[in-house]
Amino acid sequence: MTAIRIDGKAVAASLRARVADAVADLARDGVVPGLAVVLVGDDPASRVYVGSKKKMTVAAGMRSIDHMLPAETGEAELLALIDRLNRDDDVDGILVQLPLPPQIDASRVILAIDPAKDVDGFHPVNAGRLATGQPALVPCTPVGCVMLAKTVLPSLAGLDAVVVGRSNIVGKPVAQLLLAESATVTVAHSRTRDLPAVCRSADLLVAAVGRPEMIRGDWIKPGAVVIDVGINRIEGEGGTSRLVGDVAYDEAAAHAAAITPVPGGVGPMTIACLLANTVKAARARRG
Ligand code: GUN
Repeated sequence: MTAIRIDGKAVAASLRARVADAVADLARDGVVPGLAVVLVGDDPASRVYVGSKKKMTVAAGMRSIDHMLPAETGEAELLALIDRLNRDDDVDGILVQLPLPPQIDASRVILAIDPAKDVDGFHPVNAGRLATGQPALVPCTPVGCVMLAKTVLPSLAGLDAVVVGRSNIVGKPVAQLLLAESATVTVAHSRTRDLPAVCRSADLLVAAVGRPEMIRGDWIKPGAVVIDVGINRIEGEGGTSRLVGDVAYDEAAAHAAAITPVPGGVGPMTIACLLANTVKAARARRG
């Protein structure tokens, strides 16, 4: 079997186009959504993410409000900025880029963000709303994963879904979303016994562990759909490097019915879903 390659770039582009249409509608009512992005320090990967977020926010017709803070910024200073952004009516969404420098407690920062502006969906109020089936701002990467799965699976109801990874950012929320789609969900992690066998039970496998090519071809059930969240840079010969996922793509593609590539799979969906969350927050804040 040679798997369908799920084109995250194309799905993300079409979602961004729908977001731009929604923004144009809001503009007719005099509303231009604003997304505040806060970056502390100068981590090169974070700079690249933040740069893309800014570019795509503006391309969708929204305002990008950037706060680039030095690496030595204190927690109190960051909390004071979040307080100002919470109270600023022109700000619909607040995103604090993670990871934060060691002197800042990320969970305190997340807790300080107004849940109505929490476009990352990381605030415990939004996590709780998601878990209890109430309207919520839902984390972007998990939403992107489910959207990509649904391009090849009309319904997830009754499927055996395995999520590898239990982070608050991806593993747990993606499990909640799959449960809401009526899949039978198993969350596997570093302490799972016989991970290959658990993976082999999956009709839908979501890999979010951050370990390059850990999931091998013979862990994939024939005909399964594989969503690879990992983005791992590995060094090659002569100073070159390349990006790989958590799944050994070529091996897995020989068994799967469909699989997301890295890059060009889940990655592009994250920003597109962030833009969609910003529009959702802007609408909800205005009733
Ligand atoms: N760092 C890497 N991915 C993300 C994300 O989706 N949101 C935030 N805030 N930081 C990140």
